[in-house]
Amino acid sequence: MSRLQFPSSFIWGTATASFQIEGGRDDRGDCIWDDFCAWPGKVVNGDNGDTADDHYHLYKQDIGLIRSLGCQAYRFSISWPRILPEGAGEVNPKGLDFYDKLVDAVLQANITPFVTLYHWDLPSALQRLGGWAARDTAYRFADYCHIVSERLGDRVTHWITHNEPWVTAFLGHGSAVHAPGWADHSQALQVAHHLLLSHGLAVPILRQTSQPGTKVGITLNLSPVYAASDDELDVKAATRHDGYANRWFIDPVLLGSYPQDIWKYYDWQVPRVAPEDMDIIGTPIDFLGINNYTRAVIAHSDTGFLQARSVRPEGEYTAMDWEVYPQGLCDLLLRITHDYGNLDLYITENGCSYDDRLEADGTVHDNKRIAFLNKYLAAAHDAIQHGAPLRGYFVWSLMDNFEWAFGYTRRFGITYVDYQTQKRYLKDSGLFFRQVVTHNGLETG
Ligand code: FCB
Repeated sequence: MSRLQFPSSFIWGTATASFQIEGGRDDRGDCIWDDFCAWPGKVVNGDNGDTADDHYHLYKQDIGLIRSLGCQAYRFSISWPRILPEGAGEVNPKGLDFYDKLVDAVLQANITPFVTLYHWDLPSALQRLGGWAARDTAYRFADYCHIVSERLGDRVTHWITHNEPWVTAFLGHGSAVHAPGWADHSQALQVAHHLLLSHGLAVPILRQTSQPGTKVGITLNLSPVYAASDDELDVKAATRHDGYANRWFIDPVLLGSYPQDIWKYYDWQVPRVAPEDMDIIGTPIDFLGINNYTRAVIAHSDTGFLQARSVRPEGEYTAMDWEVYPQGLCDLLLRITHDYGNLDLYITENGCSYDDRLEADGTVHDNKRIAFLNKYLAAAHDAIQHGAPLRGYFVWSLMDNFEWAFGYTRRFGITYVDYQTQKRYLKDSGLFFRQVVTHNGLETG
């Protein structure tokens, strides 16, 4: 047995997102995920977010749960249509009051809130005006951030503008498997640009309306990319995939420019960019949030827009059919540190879905999740040892929830949720995570 000890200032947390847990639909405007859920065949079982985990009513209990884990931080997101039911204009006072109480309750439990402003629930009213394909939405986002930070900025010290803009752009507008369900690659690139622009517009607003020293960042979903072989064609395809999935977002935010190799490759599909945009997008941030679950293995293909295809290596897979590849997390953290310099990094999501079973005595023996977390945490530790400025880790997720197009059929929580009774049951992985947090480290071997 050996002990992997994390730095004493390391922050442990759990993560959730508004649409996935809140419910409380009567008290907010509609969002694009409400519409997507109502679109037959888009979400498994026709599930929706009307009740979800009913966190809107049970938030105090849920914060108690986070506290019982010993976590120092909690990452949650704010529902834009709960604040502004029409996306802009009239504010819903009940919405602001809810987050006000939530933040207070989190702070009272001695937990630091990490607040995400956009985790995919765009107000439907804005979608009717073009959604993220319309440049104006970026400015509406900035206005919304202003309203939220004016109310909460006296207490919130960590803001995350966006969660995974790649997913919104490409799954929402390229492959149509997420809301709003469009399939047009060039439009997805325009959407990505507007998301990035809205991020850049929001950064100074969040700083100005919050306490001095407030930290502002963005969360990107990043996967390390490996070529399927040493063949030059595969290596080039892997570089293209990395450009599409990773650099297209990291470079604008951290370097203020799009990666030129991919820009040329996209040719006529590139987004319209106003002269001032790249400076706005490249506004310095205080930290980068990284969501990582798996890796990509890429081979050349003669067809497809990237002339690349994913290869499925032999190995262990989760219920999402995502490969368990912990070394990838270490490789990714070191690569970001090496290529982009010494910026504070947080893993804002990492975790796995398995077919968990609630036993009659209220226990859930999710040993595979424990094994997953053990290995990924060891990889994160390894990256720190090799110089990655990793400051914290948020497990996805605090509790089972609405997993987007999979509805309630995929469980990611370290807490089991019985959706009939809304009872929560800490899984064995929750007990494991509590040990990790309490000891600020883990036993391996
Ligand atoms: C991420 C999302 C999060 C959750 C996990 C499994 O892409 O940010 O909401 O669905 O995947």
